[in-house]
Amino acid sequence: MQRTCQIFFFEYDRMDALVADEQQLLQAAHRAVEKAYAPYSRFRVGAAAWLSNKAVVSGANFENAAYPMCLCAERATLAAAFSQYPNERIVALAVVAVSDTQLISYPVTPCGACRQVLLEVEQKFGHPIRLILRGQTGPTWVFARASDLLPLGFDAGMMRLI
Ligand code: THU
Repeated sequence: MQRTCQIFFFEYDRMDALVADEQQLLQAAHRAVEKAYAPYSRFRVGAAAWLSNKAVVSGANFENAAYPMCLCAERATLAAAFSQYPNERIVALAVVAVSDTQLISYPVTPCGACRQVLLEVEQKFGHPIRLILRGQTGPTWVFARASDLLPLGFDAGMMRLI
């Protein structure tokens, strides 16, 4: 038997096609690019989380000379949001990527590690996280739930014995 997984997402060519909350969150993510510490890749990523109490928490990638220790903007922002507001759901996360060496004209999607962490946070709160992704120019991609980006992902449920 062959089984398939499909991913649905929305692509918007114009920012003003997004709802106002999403535009504002993208703008916060764009501002957060300035917080990036990315001397090695020169690839600066900003993220902004919108919480159920309407707070916006932003963060950026944070690199290290020991490359595997680099922290992505998504995980930096999730950790900051969760640390400040452990009981507030994360409703949406916007991510904007800017390179110092080339124009990023496409949405940058989260790495595998970030997808795994997003899945955990969605499951902890029992609520989807809307993902809004954008480069410096070009389209914006919107995913209704972050876990759509990790089909068949491993989660705590898989450790149950029954
Ligand atoms: N990076 C992010 O912050 N988020 C992504 O979605 C992709 C990659 C960062 C990690 C590293 O600092 C740099 O971008 C290059 O991989």
